[in-house]
This record gives sequence, structure tokens and C-alpha cells, in this order.
Amino acid sequence: MTCSVLVGGGWGDEGKGKCITYLCYNDKPDIVARAGVGPNAGHSVEFNGEKYGLRLTPSGFMNMDARLLIGAGVLVDPEVFHHELEYLNKYNLKNRTYADHRCSIIEPQHKERDKSSDYLSKKIGSTGTGCGPANADRVMRVAKMAGDIPQMEGYTTDVPLEVNEALDNDKDVFIEGSQGFGLSLYYGTYPFVTSKDTTASTAAADVGVGPTRIEEVIVVVKSYITRVGEGPFKTELNQDEAEKMGLEEYGTVTGRRRRVGLFDMDMAKEACMINSATQIALTCVDRLFPQCERTRDYSSLSPEIKNFINEIEGETGVPVTIISTGPDLMDTIDLREELL
Ligand code: GTP
Ligand code: IMP
Ligand code: MG
Repeated sequence: MTCSVLVGGGWGDEGKGKCITYLCYNDKPDIVARAGVGPNAGHSVEFNGEKYGLRLTPSGFMNMDARLLIGAGVLVDPEVFHHELEYLNKYNLKNRTYADHRCSIIEPQHKERDKSSDYLSKKIGSTGTGCGPANADRVMRVAKMAGDIPQMEGYTTDVPLEVNEALDNDKDVFIEGSQGFGLSLYYGTYPFVTSKDTTASTAAADVGVGPTRIEEVIVVVKSYITRVGEGPFKTELNQDEAEKMGLEEYGTVTGRRRRVGLFDMDMAKEACMINSATQIALTCVDRLFPQCERTRDYSSLSPEIKNFINEIEGETGVPVTIISTGPDLMDTIDLREELL
């Protein structure tokens, strides 16, 4: 059995969706379990020329044999949940996607409270998806749970039971986090953070697995950094500089322009330490070094790229095992064999 957790090492949008797609397509885990905050996330998944934006459904959905579970720690917006079941209908989601019956529910009032609060929507720059107010209600113990509402009938299960039984039976489980280290309520740039811790330990707790069962912790870092919303950003570039480098990005959920900056080694080191990373996935290498676009062969990388990778490994003490050279799941250099 292998139980892996994947989390973001930046301020979200590191390309977790892409890495999860590759790993789940390749390794075929029996369960893909979604952890993290909730539908404030926007994961992009690209394969076979198709592109999907997901907010709640586990990004490993294209692995048709996997059960797709949403952990109790994750907030569920029933509208988003059902929209994605329809949207991804051809992947047979309706027969294999379940949320834990203890997931807290995002109601329309939570979205209204998120958007109408100047503090959340303007000062913090929240996504307006109701996550902050819904987590506040959960802490106040007034939130509804998935098992209590007709909209989720037929789509709830006991996620920890399923996950732990699968591990007992030597099956593989992949836990996908959302957001990123810099947005952690505990370790991020408070108060410019999301409404929950976003590290690997919390991702495991979200789906009901204890620390002793986790074997691999994959931290995803981008070759440069992006941030949406407000808050400090030590290595930020101004828009002109970012454009000159060809780095312009827009958010999957909000459509907001992402702030762009240079790779931050201190942040990568801290993210690896607090997540107890065993592997690093480095994404968007092709955006910084266009000559490597779509390559799948490590030996073809230029000395400059190899130096960059070596420096990350040297500073963090963690091997870079996945190198992403394009948005499609196939645009990946997989060095995991070399660890064995
Ligand atoms: P959150 O859960 O919202 O934090 O998102 P995420 O980590 O899944 O990332 P998101 O999909 O929001 O943003 C990453 C963007 O980069 C998407 O448009 C991806 O398609 C794209 N992407 C991912 N990896 C690569 C890569 O290696 N190269 C290029 N060119 N694009 C990539
Ligand atoms: P909230 O999680 O909607 O309350 O937003 C709080 C902060 O986290 C804002 O700066 C958001 O832009 C940021 N944020 C939340 N989720 C994501 C994500 O998935 N990717 C990038 N930023 C996010
Ligand atoms: Mg995103």
C-alpha cells in the first residue's frame, strides 16, 4: 500500500491539478481523496487536448477505476458538486464520487457574506466562494453537514473508513490538497490567508488518516511564483517585468489576474520543512525556460535548468522527482524511478 499526500508549496495555483492528473493517470491509485479548504480552489486538468477547471471534484477523475472521495474537512457547496458531476458526466462520476457525511455545507448565505464583507472581499481579496464564513460557522458549530441535507442524498459515505480499509487491504490512496503553504491559516502570511491550515498533516486529517500511514508527501512548487488576492509577496515583479518574461496568468475561479514573482527559495525551504516533504514536483519550467517545452527527457534539459533543479534540491534537501514542462499530463519528466 502507498498513501501519498500532495500539497502546494506557494500561494496556490502551483499546478497541483496537472501533477495530480499525471500521478493518478500513471500510478492508478484505488482512491483519490480530496482534502483542503473547499470550492475556493481551481485546479486545471489537461489531457487528450481537453481542458477542465475543477473546484471540488478530485483531479484524479480521469483514472476511471478510482473512487473519488471528498474528506470531512473539506467544505462542500452542493451547487458546485452537482455542476461538476454533470460537467464531467462522461467520466462516470455519478457512480464513484462521494463526500464524507460530516463535510460542512456552503449555503448561499455564506457566499453572500463572503462577497458583501469589505474586509474579506477587499482587504483579504477572498475568492467570494463562501469558504471563510462557512468555516467560521463550522467553528461556531452552527453549520449543516452533508449527511443532513437532501441535496447530498446518495452522495455521502464514511471517507475515513473507506480510506483506512483500502490501506489495510494493500490498496493505494492519493490525497490531494488544495491552496498552498503561503495561504495556511497557521503558517502563511496572516491575515492574508485562507480559512484553514493547508499543510500535509491537515490534508491527511481532512480525509481521516493519521501521520503514521503517510509514506510520501509531494510538495508542488512553480518555477516562478504567483499569488491572487492581497498580501505580502517578497519576490514580486511589476506587471511590465512579468510581461517581458512572458508570465501572465489569470485565476481559474475568479478570473483575476495573478500577481507574478520570482522563485522564492526561503519559502520553498520552509514549505518543505513544515510539510515534511519527501518529494518536490517542479512545475511550469517551460514558462521560465521555453526551450524545454513539452520535453519528457531529463537529459535534454539545458545546464541552466539542471542547475536550477540542483539548487532547489541542495537548499531544501528534498529530491525533485517530477518536472512539469507543459500543462498536459504527458508533458512531464518523471524521475521517481531514480529514487528507488
Ligand atoms: P489551486 O487548487 O487553485 O491552488 O490550483 P492548482 O495548483 O491546481 O493550479 P491551477 O490549475 O489553478 O493553475 C496552474 C496553471 O498552470 C493552469 O493553467 C495549468 O494548466 C498550468 N500548468 C500547470 N503545470 C504547467 C506547466 O508545467 N507548464 C505550463 N506551461 N503550464 C502549466
Ligand atoms: P478565501 O479562501 O476565498 O477566503 O480567500 C483567501 C485568500 O486565499 C485570497 O487571497 C484568495 O485569493 C486565496 N485563495 C484561496 N483559494 C485559493 C486557490 O485555490 N488558489 C489561489 N489562491 C487562493
Ligand atoms: Mg488554482
